[in-house]
Amino acid sequence: MSVSINENIITLNTKNTTYQMAVNENGYLAHLYYGAALNGAVAIERGKVGYHTGLPLAYDSKSRELSPDVCPLEYSAYGSGDFRTTPLKVCFADGSSVCELRFVKAEMLASKPELSGLPALHDSDNKSQTVEICLKDKILDLRVYLMYTAFEEEDVIARSVRIENHTGKDIVLESVLTTCIDNYEDEFDFIAFKGRPHFERHLSRTSLGDLKITSESKRGSSSHQDNPFVIVCSKDCTETAGDCFGSALVYSGNFTASMEKTQIGTSRFVMGIHPENFSFKLKNGQSFQAPEVIHSFSSKGFEKLSHNYHNIIRNHLFRGKYALAQRPILINNWEATYFNFTADKLLAIAKEAQRIGADTFVLDDGWFLGRKGDNSSLGDWFVDEEKLGCPLNVLISKIGELGMKFGLWFEPECISENSNLYRAHPEWVLQAPARPGMLGRKQWVLDMSNPKVVDKIFEMMSNILDNNNIEYIKWDFNRYLTDVYSTALPANRQGEVHHRYVLGVYNLLERINKNYPNVLIEGCASGGGRFDCGMLYYSPQFWASDNTDPMDRLAIQYGTSFCYPVISMGSHVTASPNHVTKRATPIKTRSNVAMAGTFGFELDLTTLTGADIETLCSETEFYKRNSELIRLGDYYRLTNDSSRHIAWQFVSKDKSQALAVLVQKTTRVNYKPIIQKFRGLDSNAKYCVTIDGEKCEQLYSGTALMEVGLGIRTIKYESESTRIEFQKV
Ligand code: GLA
Repeated sequence: MSVSINENIITLNTKNTTYQMAVNENGYLAHLYYGAALNGAVAIERGKVGYHTGLPLAYDSKSRELSPDVCPLEYSAYGSGDFRTTPLKVCFADGSSVCELRFVKAEMLASKPELSGLPALHDSDNKSQTVEICLKDKILDLRVYLMYTAFEEEDVIARSVRIENHTGKDIVLESVLTTCIDNYEDEFDFIAFKGRPHFERHLSRTSLGDLKITSESKRGSSSHQDNPFVIVCSKDCTETAGDCFGSALVYSGNFTASMEKTQIGTSRFVMGIHPENFSFKLKNGQSFQAPEVIHSFSSKGFEKLSHNYHNIIRNHLFRGKYALAQRPILINNWEATYFNFTADKLLAIAKEAQRIGADTFVLDDGWFLGRKGDNSSLGDWFVDEEKLGCPLNVLISKIGELGMKFGLWFEPECISENSNLYRAHPEWVLQAPARPGMLGRKQWVLDMSNPKVVDKIFEMMSNILDNNNIEYIKWDFNRYLTDVYSTALPANRQGEVHHRYVLGVYNLLERINKNYPNVLIEGCASGGGRFDCGMLYYSPQFWASDNTDPMDRLAIQYGTSFCYPVISMGSHVTASPNHVTKRATPIKTRSNVAMAGTFGFELDLTTLTGADIETLCSETEFYKRNSELIRLGDYYRLTNDSSRHIAWQFVSKDKSQALAVLVQKTTRVNYKPIIQKFRGLDSNAKYCVTIDGEKCEQLYSGTALMEVGLGIRTIKYESESTRIEFQKV
């Protein structure tokens, strides 16, 4: 049994972890424990840490010694003695914000329900178990439903919250965070994935100390700067040892994740929609669903934690035809031509791409009415036949004759001032009354909180998809939200716009998913500015960064891999010198780094030398042969991102096959040679080892490869790379 409700103790067990709560004698739902499996034990002592501490506060004279301020609470509301970050803040009809949540009941659900309007883990194999716990304000009928699902095999607890207003009057929600975990321990490090455009998701580790640490976005999207995935870990936690807790918010808008040390040395973790710029009115009888957080715990370091996330995302977040299937090998024309193309030029690139083994041609930005640069036409999703030189379906059928599929770029959420859509509907732009909206990349953001806008964009996109044989969409979003104001909502409901915007985007994505099940969506946001579990529910791959320099990609893809599986990372071979960094790198390294992702091409193939074309032919061949291993295998980070060389490895689930890649980051002259140890192999088996296509004469045992390692002599100078294959004999 994964979940049990035993008198006042509620326990969720996964293969290696336990999550436990208890109703205490005051009727609070206390958090007892989250960590390594308890195998039937009860962490009841943890629930008592709220007693016997200075200046206790209580409503009840019987319980003078229990203070909600230090009690380990599973969820709590502002205004009634919990001075830590409280996940819930409500403003009742009389203007008061005092709310005290008491346990009402806990019950098992037959299956994991969908979350209305929001992406969430699905229980496709019906193996998870879900419990729903109802808390209620002590005085008014405000109900809080906490939902927990245990995914046993993946060591995951998914958690969400729904607020129901039965107070008889309107209320306003001012904060509804999803999760709150009060930990007994106090010595933690907090890991966030920080960045900026072109440098997304760089791992940043800080000691909690006595402070509060926050990772957050207020940009309207999950952002380049922070990511809605964080790790809290023991100070000694490494890749392969130590305790670590992961939390991934399945949401693509403003978020906060914070950890604070309390006065008594315990710590509180919270995560959810950012409460700044958020308020949500609920009429009597209405409910509010907050997004899900995916929690996982590993007592064996980050590697196991990442495996848990990779498995749950692949098996229970991805949906549709492409969930686990081989992804198309794309040729995208953006870095090849930018806005400057005709159908003939595109066809010439497609022909070369077909020669090297790409199977899908993607026409990026610039194909729609009047779009010659980035200062016009967003919002007018009609083909510019004059620029193209022919109707789109003529180009698509010529590309089809090469045996290739076709994909198209859209930026559905944005609008140019110089567009027919803006001229017809200036009120559809996010803009405060009497203020000119700020431009970002010369464009405004559409008011996706307005269902009429979503309908119109769906209609235009459908028109393109219905009349052209399109099997892939690149869904871009190239700015942050400012001037957040919707003409479709009254003045006192503007605090809802940020969240309703995200719901509108999800609604549009869901309609495209449902109506066009053969279309694969790849997300993009000026590179990786919205790479999160919310988007991955609709688009199982996301362009990891506009920085396509393989040497910079090492840290980006390293950081991304802590939560997100390799198959979700859009990654292409591009030109050398790189357009962003001007750095030149060998073609093999560009390809090796792109293979730790979806693999594809984004350069003008018509300008390559015959030798480079031949290399790319064999690289594509190699990728196709190893695609299942890369896509579905276990991923190991063999070095950290500050090593002299960066190495990673894929191992098939049955350990019969593995592939490692090493990239030299800093030239290694007069320095010790690399002896690389590998991981995840079968220690009792013998492996045949092939280095850059050359088979080693001797066989190596799994133990030798993992404990001693292999001397690597094939790389020495900066940006060289090498590939090692392992085949069990
Ligand atoms: C963004 C994307 C790029 C490309 C351009 C097109 O910057 O990240 O990949 O699609 O837009 O304008």
